Amino acid sequence: MDSGKPYVICHMLGSVDGRIKQDIWGFKDHHKYFEETAEKIAADAWLVGRVTMQEFSSKNTPELLNGASVPKEDFVAQKSATYAVVIDPSGKCFWETNMVSTEHVIEVLTETVSDGYLEHLRSSKVSYIFGGKNTLDLDLVIRKLRKLFDIQTLRIDGGGHVNGSFLKANLIDEFSLVLAPVADGTIGSPTVFEAEEGYGSRMATQFKIKSVDRIYDDFLWIRYEVVRDGATGR
Ligand SMILES: NC(=O)c1ccc[n+]([C@@H]2O[C@H](COP(=O)([O-])OP(=O)(O)OC[C@H]3O[C@@H](n4cnc5c(N)ncnc54)[C@H](OP(=O)(O)O)[C@@H]3O)[C@@H](O)[C@H]2O)c1
Repeated sequence: MDSGKPYVICHMLGSVDGRIKQDIWGFKDHHKYFEETAEKIAADAWLVGRVTMQEFSSKNTPELLNGASVPKEDFVAQKSATYAVVIDPSGKCFWETNMVSTEHVIEVLTETVSDGYLEHLRSSKVSYIFGGKNTLDLDLVIRKLRKLFDIQTLRIDGGGHVNGSFLKANLIDEFSLVLAPVADGTIGSPTVFEAEEGYGSRMATQFKIKSVDRIYDDFLWIRYEVVRDGATGR
């Protein structure tokens, strides 16, 4: 049965203690461990959090013109074979192009964004969708990505806060972990899943192994399927 949602695979490079910032890992070519494995996961789009996307978006802050009112309606600037999606609730990423590499940019916003910001996206021909008034409904967001852009498989590429919010919303189908042979140990640095502070009523998400490969000598690439409703009987 068609759920109306894309199939969601979260892909991350993590240290043995689950940390994801590679600043002190000392790898010469740290991008390749994430990128070369990501390329092997067929997907119509990748999605990241605002903090991660600011590594790719414009470093300049344009002057926003809050003139005419712009309707709070989804805007499809163009269709593309692949997309780069950013969860950017209050519109902090700026664009001089509407592409990251070969992927067309889609901004996921709340209705708190200004008319000037929407005008900026329109003039940069960046697509955008609304995922809620003040907060995001991620289930609605991925349904819109499927309906408006025909995204059938979505790869979530971090960082930890975006992964954690999809985990908490129970929207992840698979988790692909490249386990780096390094212990980071930085207290307070983001981990693979940053879902919420402290223990509440939420239970941890369980996984079942789909495949394990030893790569680049000492790395492991572990692909897991999410187990729903305690189906392993563990
Ligand atoms: N090792 C890896 O594989 C890997 C992969 C990707 C990134 N990284 C690293 O991870 C670090 C960034 O991770 P991070 O966890 O700090 O940030 P992040 O997940 O990239 O972005 C977090 C931001 O996204 C927005 N956001 C995410 N989920 C949301 C939700 N459900 N509702 C509303 N807004 C939401 C918020 O933006 P606002 O603050 O604007 O509200 C939030 O502050 C960077 O250092 C990056 O290089 C590592």
